[in-house]
Amino acid sequence: MRDVSATEEVRTKSLPASIRHRFPIFEHRVYINSCSQGALSDAVRAAYEQYLNDWDEKGAPWEYWVERQETARASFAELVNAAPDEVAVTTSLSAGVASLASGLRFARRSKVVLTDWEFPTIGQIWHAQEARGARVVHVKEAGDGTIPVEQFDAAIDDDTLLVSITHVCYRNGAMIDVRKIVDLAHERGAYVLLDAFQSVGSLPVDVKELDVDFLGAGVLKYLLGSAGLGFFYAKRDLVEKVWPTTTGWFADENIFAMDHTDYSPARTAARFQSGTPPVPAIYAGIAGIELMKEIGIAETREHVNELNAHLIDGLDELKATVVTPRRPDRRGALVCAKSKDANALVAALGREGIVTSERDSNLRISAHAYNSVEDADAVLASLQRHRKLLA
Ligand SMILES: Cc1ncc(COP(=O)(O)O)c(C=O)c1O
Repeated sequence: MRDVSATEEVRTKSLPASIRHRFPIFEHRVYINSCSQGALSDAVRAAYEQYLNDWDEKGAPWEYWVERQETARASFAELVNAAPDEVAVTTSLSAGVASLASGLRFARRSKVVLTDWEFPTIGQIWHAQEARGARVVHVKEAGDGTIPVEQFDAAIDDDTLLVSITHVCYRNGAMIDVRKIVDLAHERGAYVLLDAFQSVGSLPVDVKELDVDFLGAGVLKYLLGSAGLGFFYAKRDLVEKVWPTTTGWFADENIFAMDHTDYSPARTAARFQSGTPPVPAIYAGIAGIELMKEIGIAETREHVNELNAHLIDGLDELKATVVTPRRPDRRGALVCAKSKDANALVAALGREGIVTSERDSNLRISAHAYNSVEDADAVLASLQRHRKLLA
């Protein structure tokens, strides 16, 4: 196996060593599956306990719980370099995207361009709009496992309303060149929606730098939160151009007005919200996001890139088929290898105490800040024992 250089080794070792004790799962498992769910930290467990205590002690502290929602909004906004009024607090990524879709008209422009790397929810939401006049076009993956920008060049035209792309593909770990696609789309008058679920928390995501118009994310993977909380960003100038028709009282201009006689959506991105906020998941989400900020997202990216270089070298030695792009700037935190029977391989690793996952006949190995070189080596040693299940 490749030797990591002395400086790399110090860095690669120090980050997990300083935080690992906060994630009890490592006492009994090699957990390397954050593309599916982040590991539970002491901070997130304490946040859930705090929620139960507040409920028990105060009964129904709704004003405080609405305040918690604002804290979550501000925490996520800071994370992606947005303003809080550009962020909706949702219950999933799907909820924010569905609200956006409900507010778009497909009259003047009708085309939605998506990629073959999208998570099912994205394809399903846009195809559902075909009943409302949308025309959905898929940009295909090339033979080398990338989606060349030229494909977007051919697909985005003056009938294109929206280009919907995923930052990091959940099936193969490939990272798209967001800025190039955004520039192309904007040149032709189309908006861009970025699904950042597989990138946020694992690498710096800056909505201003990327210049995306809309962005959806959730907190349960690299942001260390739990299911039930998502965020949706809309560029300030665009918020009032969209009139969601999938809505709810927490999208109202004044949620305390309790007015059932009209629809006056918030003049902020809160118009993409719906009903009662997911209070328990908000407590957990704030704790997860703040913990990731404390750990350092740029440091995490650097650490995981080093770890993944080591992992890919090891996979090459095993003559595995790595389907994740080789270039570090073209991949997220996830490394995938082809398998003859991905379910059986995940189960075999699981029996040895190693938690991974699979999609699309690929084994998914997804390291985060808490994973060490020893974790990567444990995965590689186990894969060597189960070599026959790798394709
Ligand atoms: C890329 C991507 N998008 C979306 C989702 C899920 O979104 P939602 O919060 O709507 O369930 C996932 C979750 O696995 C994902 O990996």
